[in-house]
Amino acid sequence: MLINRLLAALPDTIIKQNMPLSPMCTLKVGGEAEIFTAPASIEDMRILFELVMREGCPFYVLGGGSNVLFPDGLIKGVVISTMNLHKTEWRTNLTVDVDAGVKLPALMKDIRERGLAGMEFAAGIPGTVGGAIAGNAGAGGHGVCELADYVLTAEPDGTVRTWNSNDIDYSYRKCSLSDGRRVILSARMTFRTANPKDEEVLASYLLRRGTQPHGLSNAGCTFKNPEGSSAGKLLDECGCKGISVGDAVVSDIHANFILNRGSAAASDVLELIRICAGRVYDSTGIRLEPEIKIFSPGFCV
Ligand code: EPU
Repeated sequence: MLINRLLAALPDTIIKQNMPLSPMCTLKVGGEAEIFTAPASIEDMRILFELVMREGCPFYVLGGGSNVLFPDGLIKGVVISTMNLHKTEWRTNLTVDVDAGVKLPALMKDIRERGLAGMEFAAGIPGTVGGAIAGNAGAGGHGVCELADYVLTAEPDGTVRTWNSNDIDYSYRKCSLSDGRRVILSARMTFRTANPKDEEVLASYLLRRGTQPHGLSNAGCTFKNPEGSSAGKLLDECGCKGISVGDAVVSDIHANFILNRGSAAASDVLELIRICAGRVYDSTGIRLEPEIKIFSPGFCV
């Protein structure tokens, strides 16, 4: 059995059965992972991924859990968490190697303390470096992928591949490395010396973030902005604010946020996503694409 092979090959790595995932996701919904793993090192991740792929087992990579939705019930396959890949090594005054599990706010703090700048647009974005690269997280027309000199990934054949920035295809909330066939291990990023203007830019990003809902569990923006328009504005115009299914409710402050009032199930959130996308489609003909990564087989809006 896969679990026994994993336990034998990776004595330092956390490997558990029937692990509840909702505490690890900011929306606080979702069922249990049949197998949950959190590799203790990049090398363990490489070995684990090869074993999982050799078995042909479905896998899901979990970063900071701030942009994901797992279904209720038992999630078949392996959930691979990057939470134990948290090394940060500065190579020069400007260049750093960061593991996939490093939290973006921690990296932000580090670069500011070093008098560096270049990722102000990412101020207030939660989650991890790996998740941010996978989804090219960002704001104001910028995305985290633009900061990477190169990215290392674990490949299905057990190798580690280096992707130079030229080999990575990225655009608004998209990254070619996030194709379900590899795991992002780490990235090299280069920043620049900060100037006083950077603090102003950072403050303006934080200000915009400050107008978004906080307090109740959520997973950030539900839908991507369609070309030339704003998902939040469209949802608002279609009267989505305040709509609820069970304990899942559309925020009154920003219509592109779904909040968990306490005991929402993943099925409630999925139904709410369908209703909201349906409203926008019916009145505008625009098909909103979820930004939240939905690990639910066959789900479509
Ligand atoms: N708006 C409404 N009603 C709403 C929400 C928004 O009319 O309910 C209007 C706003 O007034 C504004 C426009 O829609 O005129 C755009 O809204 P906002 O400035 O909040 O930006 P956004 O496009 O909704 C994007 C990112 C956010 C990021 C902000 C700020 C996407 C899908 N969202 O939001 O990222 O924080 O810009 O930089 O690209 C996320 O990725 O999870 C996320 C929240």
